[in-house]
Amino acid sequence: MVNTGELRDLHSRVYPGSAPRVAVRAPGRVNLIGEHTDYNDGYVLPIAMSQALYVTASPSADGQISVHSTAFGETVDFPADHPGSPSDPAWANYVRGVAVMLIRRGIPLKPCRLAIHSDVPLGAGVSSSAALEVGTALALLAMNERRIEAIPLALLARQAEHEYAHSPCGIMDQFICVLGKTRHALMLDCRSQTYEQIPLPFENTTLVIMNTQVKHAIGSSQYPVRQKQCHEGLAILQRSDPRLIALRDADMDMLLQHRSRMDEVVFRRCRHVITEIARVPQAAEAMKTGDAVTFGRLMFDSHASLKDDYEVSCAELDALVDIARQVPGVYGARMTGGGFGGCVIALVKSDAEQSLRTAVKDKYDMRFEKPAMVYTTTASEGATVVPL
Ligand code: GLA
Repeated sequence: MVNTGELRDLHSRVYPGSAPRVAVRAPGRVNLIGEHTDYNDGYVLPIAMSQALYVTASPSADGQISVHSTAFGETVDFPADHPGSPSDPAWANYVRGVAVMLIRRGIPLKPCRLAIHSDVPLGAGVSSSAALEVGTALALLAMNERRIEAIPLALLARQAEHEYAHSPCGIMDQFICVLGKTRHALMLDCRSQTYEQIPLPFENTTLVIMNTQVKHAIGSSQYPVRQKQCHEGLAILQRSDPRLIALRDADMDMLLQHRSRMDEVVFRRCRHVITEIARVPQAAEAMKTGDAVTFGRLMFDSHASLKDDYEVSCAELDALVDIARQVPGVYGARMTGGGFGGCVIALVKSDAEQSLRTAVKDKYDMRFEKPAMVYTTTASEGATVVPL
């Protein structure tokens, strides 16, 4: 957590002589279960992480929106009234895209200077991009004395990602960034966009994140391929039941009946989605009853399905899950986010955290090029303006 003094100093260092008028905190997210279900109208169960991205803003008079990223060490400017099309550098497109979406919504933007600083690891599958979009949107809204309700805000941020980052993502990341609640997980129905904030009940447990520091370039290109395979499977099921709108409406019996008409790969993709959507309400129930054992088992099942059926895991993620499985006191572990690298999330008895850290050091760090970064997280509040 960055404190207010640090945010002020940071802003003035980037823009000498200028004090921030607005600061925003926007968290990253860890999905506990329900992966690759959001774009199939299914359920997800993420938390907003304690690690967050911060945006500070001050007014300017040069007609530009300037944005500085401490992670990239560069500043990008674009006209406040005409932010333009996506261009290099790629990171600034999230900001540019959000500015365009706000203007499109009829909110004219005054020129300003933005500084971005993030504790959310970049490209690690914990949604640094949604944090950047939502953080930027809240900062620009506050600078222009405007407000947008939570769900339209999340949808606006996602639209920026679709159009300016060319990533056809679902709604999970932006929704949890906006709707996160301290010590709660968000059970989100991605079809109705209704949700329930469920208290995290597991006593004496810790959420441990293990970052492989691997970002397989293949990830972004495989995401739309997975979406296409889901549509292919759905289209086959729809031939016998046109009422099906998404894989959310199918069950395993239906899928098995159509197996022979389906490519084997498409069958496995659909099996992942159908079983994963079913696991989320079970996990939510386990959460409500404080049943960490069942919750953990569902996490392991989810990982196996992502690995074998959806094929979005990688050797590093699988190794971490296997290592975690062997540590007494680990309830469950799974890859989180889009996959092909990024992080594993584990639900661990608090007094087993150290053994898990030691096991990762002994068994993982020797085997792979980069050591895994291990840290803990808690469920935090969604994005908000921070008083300065
Ligand atoms: C990425 C997308 C999300 C979701 C996950 C997989 O994080 O942005 O919308 O589809 O992958 O669950």
